[in-house]
Amino acid sequence: MKVLIVEDDVATRKGLESAVRDLGHEPRAVGTAGEAARAIEEFAPDVLMVDVHLPDGDGIEVFRTAREAAPERDGIVITGQASLDSAVEALRAGVSDYLLKPLRPAQLEVVFQRLAARRTLESEVDTLRAELQETGKLGEMISKSAAMARVFEAVRRVARSTAPVLITGQSGSGKEVVARTIHRLSRRASAPFVAFNCGAISLTLIESELFGHERGSFTGADKRRIGYFEESNGGSLLLDEITEMGADLQVKLLRVLEAKTFRRVGGTQDIRVDLRIISATNRDPLEAIKEGKLREDLYYRLNVFPIALPPLTERREDIPLLAEHFRRHIEEQEKAGVKAWDPAALGILEAHAWPGNVRELRNVVHRAYLMTEGDTIAPETVQELLPAVSGKTLQPMKTRRSSDSQALQFRRGGPSGAGYRHRS
Ligand SMILES: Nc1ncnc2c1ncn2[C@@H]1O[C@H](COP(=O)(O)OP(=O)(O)OP(=O)(O)O)[C@@H](O)[C@H]1O
Ligand SMILES: [Mg+2]
Repeated sequence: MKVLIVEDDVATRKGLESAVRDLGHEPRAVGTAGEAARAIEEFAPDVLMVDVHLPDGDGIEVFRTAREAAPERDGIVITGQASLDSAVEALRAGVSDYLLKPLRPAQLEVVFQRLAARRTLESEVDTLRAELQETGKLGEMISKSAAMARVFEAVRRVARSTAPVLITGQSGSGKEVVARTIHRLSRRASAPFVAFNCGAISLTLIESELFGHERGSFTGADKRRIGYFEESNGGSLLLDEITEMGADLQVKLLRVLEAKTFRRVGGTQDIRVDLRIISATNRDPLEAIKEGKLREDLYYRLNVFPIALPPLTERREDIPLLAEHFRRHIEEQEKAGVKAWDPAALGILEAHAWPGNVRELRNVVHRAYLMTEGDTIAPETVQELLPAVSGKTLQPMKTRRSSDSQALQFRRGGPSGAGYRHRS
């Protein structure tokens, strides 16, 4: 990073200059506000380190002007005499650190590491946004359809905020991908994303999974355990299948969301975490409320920002795009040679009903690839696969709900490997 040091005291100025250089950045140092104005023009610094009192002006003002010209600029105030007024003014101007002289090199190192990390993250987010415009890609999501354009826009908007998000959509329509993308596009991207299936296990276990427990709090609790709420601190927590959550857990969760603190099972200490809750369901939440399966007050807490994913059949123009994306991915994974689409095969996929949505499409593409001997995926191959995987004879696999170990598996890898099985 290019760092402009604005400091009138010669010894401090020289010291800062060499410290910044030692940290691997490119310094330039000046002693007055007037010189700073010229240096900002020519040198175009990424970061300004300014002293508050300069012989010909005010350092915070220097930063403010520099930032007006380039809003992504960062500022560090260094001062000999901290005052509440100048600290408040500095914060208002958008300065990221307010440091007291004399500065220790270690302190400076931490400040610069943090600035660098944030700048990388921001440029990654910019790259992701730019990618969307060009290729119809947003994070892991692919689409060029009008129906999904609304979803993409919602994802980008909400990613910047901290609002709780509720994602609804049929099974396999991409709810988890949306949740991951929101996380990746947010300022929380470098903190963990944790997915948790609310219907997975019994209440005692679920409570301890979510909130953790203290040693000896129940039979079998031989060690302290950190729950997902603590694990995802700073990041995002996906609560999946919220309509499958028991009534007791709903009460507990509502209380935690209202109080913004919780206790580990058997614990006495209130724990506060900073995370974004994303929840998801493949059922109509309003129906679930009517049926008494979902508490209305909890629903309103979770549903600050709703995102409704359209089923695949409402975005048929995405089918060839997704099919090609999965084909390439599978080709890389299976390493069984290049196999291209016969256009007629894509036509068949486009016309299909897809009750299992994008996941079903991915599975069909995978099987079509494996069934193809030559270098072209033929329409007959695709046609033969379709009746076997669609219609009422099939059920999406929901095994994750049935046992503890599977819940953990879900948490690690997500349900991406889930497929379909015949109901016999
Ligand atoms: N827009 C998309 N672009 C690329 N891949 C997608 C898209 N939507 C879904 N997928 C893929 O489809 C599969 C299913 O998506 P996901 O697991 O997010 O669905 P879901 O709605 O959470 O399903 P369920 O209700 O069964 O939990 C995943 O492999 C995912 O990567
Ligand atoms: Mg899911």
